[in-house]
Amino acid sequence: MAELGFDVLGLDVDRAKIDTLSAGRVPFYEPGLEEVLVRNLAAGRLRFTSDYAEAAEFADVHFICVGTPQRADSNAADLSYVDAVVDSLAPLLTRPAVVIGKSTVPVGTAARVAARISALAPAGSAVEVGWSPEFLREGFGVQDTLAPNRIVIGTDSARVEEVMRSISATQIAQGIPFMVTDLQTAELVKVSANAFLATKISFINAMAEVSEAAGADVIKLAEALSYDDRIGGKFLGPGLGFGGGCLPKDIRAFMARADELGVEPALSFLREVDAINQRRRARTIDIARGLIGGSFAGRTVGVLGAAFKPNSDDIRDSPALDVAQTISSLGAHVTVYDPEALENAKRAHPDLNYAHSMLEAVRDAEVVLLLTEWAEFRDADPDELAKVVAETRIVDGRNALDPEHWRERGWIYRALGRP
Ligand code: UDX
Repeated sequence: MAELGFDVLGLDVDRAKIDTLSAGRVPFYEPGLEEVLVRNLAAGRLRFTSDYAEAAEFADVHFICVGTPQRADSNAADLSYVDAVVDSLAPLLTRPAVVIGKSTVPVGTAARVAARISALAPAGSAVEVGWSPEFLREGFGVQDTLAPNRIVIGTDSARVEEVMRSISATQIAQGIPFMVTDLQTAELVKVSANAFLATKISFINAMAEVSEAAGADVIKLAEALSYDDRIGGKFLGPGLGFGGGCLPKDIRAFMARADELGVEPALSFLREVDAINQRRRARTIDIARGLIGGSFAGRTVGVLGAAFKPNSDDIRDSPALDVAQTISSLGAHVTVYDPEALENAKRAHPDLNYAHSMLEAVRDAEVVLLLTEWAEFRDADPDELAKVVAETRIVDGRNALDPEHWRERGWIYRALGRP
């Protein structure tokens, strides 16, 4: 928002994050974000605080951007962070303001939040609520925020719509579609988009399962499908499947909400989408185990990748770390390398071994697993790796390498969905 020219005050209850941001550092890896942060701090358009009273006094428009992770005790979304923002901010809102939710929430949450804010705010119904889901991809956060592929605002208030239009004026002028819906539809757009993307990935991974059984090649299959522009090639990449802080928990929360709404059968297919996705992890482990003679006990395994996808240090529900952890618990000596996610991985899985380079991770490995397709791994030289491994065997969990090239260089190469 500061980059678009607005005066912005960012609030977080975590003082350490506020201090880091105020010092011009981003507390996570996101390409291009630090430059934007530094530029806007210097321009005086961006400041940070952990004081709700300051935020309430400062802003005409408040965005709620907190996480809605999966609850520990069920598939449903944990709304405690959203509720905490509402309960902290609303009692301080003494003049007219607009509150716009960005957080991904179960349908019905926005209406509940709106009622609670009206009840708690001294300004009462002069504080109005809208919901505007964001669709940014980690690793492309800056670009997807400045130039999103669409802007959706859910509201039944003309003032909220007007405010959102003026905030989005630059993007609307660039021809970015701007849609106004009711609150419920806006909430549903986000979860249904993620459900569709997850389904597309699991569809091609289901085809990978069939291809493995039939001796077919899912990469060729996916390419052939992609030329039909009704299908398209994006998100049709077979491999270890989806992870991260969004897709897995969003499809589960969506199923939980459908259940509450009495339409559980409508989304029961998402259970299968989730199951196909989880099976890819098990299959990757099976292929690696097969390559080293049927047991991991006492074996040395090199793992390339810890982040849930490249260009991120996010390890939430990371398929790579899940596979590494399982192989380790089966008795192998597992060493993991990732260009950006090592610190996060170490904190979450202190029992795994970590290396500071690709070559160090695969040293003496009896099998190598490529589990996150960082460019560094895609471009790896099979001859360089061959010099340090114990056995030239590789499982390409992301279909990121050229099988012919690696086989020519003497490697036993295995991938998901390919002969
Ligand atoms: C996703 C949505 O794309 C985004 O619109 C939403 O706002 C948040 O959730 P993100 O979690 O950043 O974004 O990751 P995304 O790029 O969607 O990838 C999700 C997972 O799917 C990754 O683990 C990735 O490796 C996997 N994936 C993606 C595949 O396995 N195959 C593909 O073809 C594409």
